[in-house]
Amino acid sequence: MRQIKSQQLALDFLHVVESAAIASARTMGQGKRKYSDHVAVEAMREALKYVPIAGKVVIGEGERDKAPMLYIGERVGLGDDEENKHQYPEMDLAVDPLEGTNLCATGGPNAISVLAAAERGGLLNAPDIYMNKLVVGPAAKGHLDIDAPVKDNLKILARRLSRDIGDLVITVLDRPRHQKLIEEIRNTGARIKLISDGDLSAGISAAVGGSGVHALMGIGGAPEGVLTAAAMRCLNGEIQARFVLKDQLAKEDLEKVADDSEVIERMKAMGIKDPNQVYTTTDLAPGRKIIFAACGVTDGTILKGVRFFGSGIRTQSLIMTTESRYVRFVDTIKLEGGPDVVVRF
Ligand code: FBP
Repeated sequence: MRQIKSQQLALDFLHVVESAAIASARTMGQGKRKYSDHVAVEAMREALKYVPIAGKVVIGEGERDKAPMLYIGERVGLGDDEENKHQYPEMDLAVDPLEGTNLCATGGPNAISVLAAAERGGLLNAPDIYMNKLVVGPAAKGHLDIDAPVKDNLKILARRLSRDIGDLVITVLDRPRHQKLIEEIRNTGARIKLISDGDLSAGISAAVGGSGVHALMGIGGAPEGVLTAAAMRCLNGEIQARFVLKDQLAKEDLEKVADDSEVIERMKAMGIKDPNQVYTTTDLAPGRKIIFAACGVTDGTILKGVRFFGSGIRTQSLIMTTESRYVRFVDTIKLEGGPDVVVRF
């Protein structure tokens, strides 16, 4: 079997997220979120065909019967069949070809294409249900507790970041289910950034100094939670998370979720015994060799969106690895015009 360093694979995955981001960015603002997602999925799947791995999707577009492409369990990469699989390293993949489908459809900020990979078993096989999350950067890692009162956590966060509580910015998804959380944060004097979608890119921003965001709090998707954990492993940040059942949701959410008994059965089938467990960063992304890649679709807090300029396409991506500890912000220009095209800074 070929040994391939994470550094090399990260470049392959860079191309994969760039391809998905470019495809979906072409549909920006057209108001068709499903179509934007569809083209991103197709582009990501096509680009994955050439990656030298025997890959298996563990977080993807859904169960096999519900998603035709990048479904959970789908084999991807050059070693995607019985004949070739032994030639390539086995890897588990968590993919979100378009995180923030509404954001892309409306031209809103922070839509990204994302992929995380690890050796087999290195990413939690999580069901597509809701998850309560607390995400912070390296300074606060190990000091907060998802079960502690919000005011206590924010007091500690402010102290760890050597600032007043009023200087903090906490990102929260703007949803009725967060009414109480928002009130509690406001009562501390901390500032809030309410976002319409995209708690994965918000979580990443919380762990990047200078982003102007200090924590992500609240309930979003569990698949995004696993991807956030993979990013936290690379950025020295932290996520604490817990699956959410119906009693913590608002009536607006209920039509999107199955009955608790069905959800608990699905969790059991995925090896999750205690639905109330608090998951740490390493519970969600235990892999030794984690590779994380994200490419901006629309302009965002830490990544610019895709820019088309007639004779070329410019993308901005983040690729990171835990095997050799690199965090790379990559600015790529794909030249599409003739030999006189000018490349600008
Ligand atoms: P999609 O890209 O699948 O549309 O998800 C966007 C998102 O905002 C995630 O970032 C977040 O975790 C989840 O949806 C929140 O779910 P809901 O919109 O049901 O509150």
